[in-house]
Amino acid sequence: MEMLPQIPTGHTETPTSFPSTWLESSAAPLEIDFGCHRGAFLIGMAALHPGSNFLGIEKQSDRVARCNARAGRLGLSNAAAVTGLGSESLAVLPAACVSVFHLYFPDPWPKRRHSSRRVFQKKFLEEIRRVLRSDGILRIMTDDAPYFAEMRELTRVGWMDSPWDDGRETVLTAFEKTFRNRGQSPHQAALKPI
Ligand SMILES: C[S@@+](CC[C@H](N)C(=O)[O-])C[C@H]1O[C@@H](n2cnc3c(N)ncnc32)[C@H](O)[C@@H]1O
Repeated sequence: MEMLPQIPTGHTETPTSFPSTWLESSAAPLEIDFGCHRGAFLIGMAALHPGSNFLGIEKQSDRVARCNARAGRLGLSNAAAVTGLGSESLAVLPAACVSVFHLYFPDPWPKRRHSSRRVFQKKFLEEIRRVLRSDGILRIMTDDAPYFAEMRELTRVGWMDSPWDDGRETVLTAFEKTFRNRGQSPHQAALKPI
């Protein structure tokens, strides 16, 4: 099976890749879970929706390895994770190849002096827009109200709200589970490019 070139990681760990057939125009819809952690959401969604391919991008290679091992154990050929860092990891993807881009609980970096480390910035959003299909959806979720407000502000122009509930069966992310168990409801938005 032909594999894609390695996604730039900014790290020295073993590179990972995914089937290049996922990027062909005739391929099943591609969903990206950015910051997929150990893959609780990615694997759960891949099991529920065998008609779509799920690609996790995650900066920590040990988490990527655990995610791929779990997908292998479950025999899920529609789930894979790769190591990747920020907007550079999206730059290797062709335009308009992604149907759904999930960004759930990105690290909030709550201290003001650290806020420039947040992944959701203009360049990252431009890359998301480039890789999204014109009918694609960007889904964001966080417990951090200031970060959510910042994401809403960055998407104020060029994006419009879409219903969060898209009628599909879904699973909780690992972080979402933790917050909901504490009785907290995260901020959520589904956005489509205009
Ligand atoms: C707070 S966790 C959320 C995990 C998962 N999305 C969830 O909702 O349970 C954030 C994840 O994003 C990864 N991450 C943070 N910054 C990243 C970046 N710039 N590029 C890729 N992954 C990143 C972290 O390693 C971590 O696994």
